[in-house]
Amino acid sequence: MAAIAFTINGKAVSVDVEPDTPLLWVIREHLKLTGTKFGCGIAQCGACTVHLDGEPTRSCSVQSGQIMQAAALLQKNPRPTRDQIIAHMDGNICR
Ligand code: FES
Repeated sequence: MAAIAFTINGKAVSVDVEPDTPLLWVIREHLKLTGTKFGCGIAQCGACTVHLDGEPTRSCSVQSGQIMQAAALLQKNPRPTRDQIIAHMDGNICR
């Protein structure tokens, strides 16, 4: 298990999940925010789309590792530029 802390809908949250848990299941199962839907599960249909740092993201295919990567960036730089975000997030192979 891994503790993950992030902000969703303007609210700071923390959950303990397996590191390979897709963001969709963190949102639906752990946070009980069921507005985000499961469709195909393979990043094709868009039913699970959320905004991650302002970018539309298919949450069914995003591992929590990306959340950890984004959280680390925001701790160091609370207002990163788009180029800084892209540079920082490109280090995640699971992306
Ligand atoms: S469930 Fe279809 S894109 Fe995520």
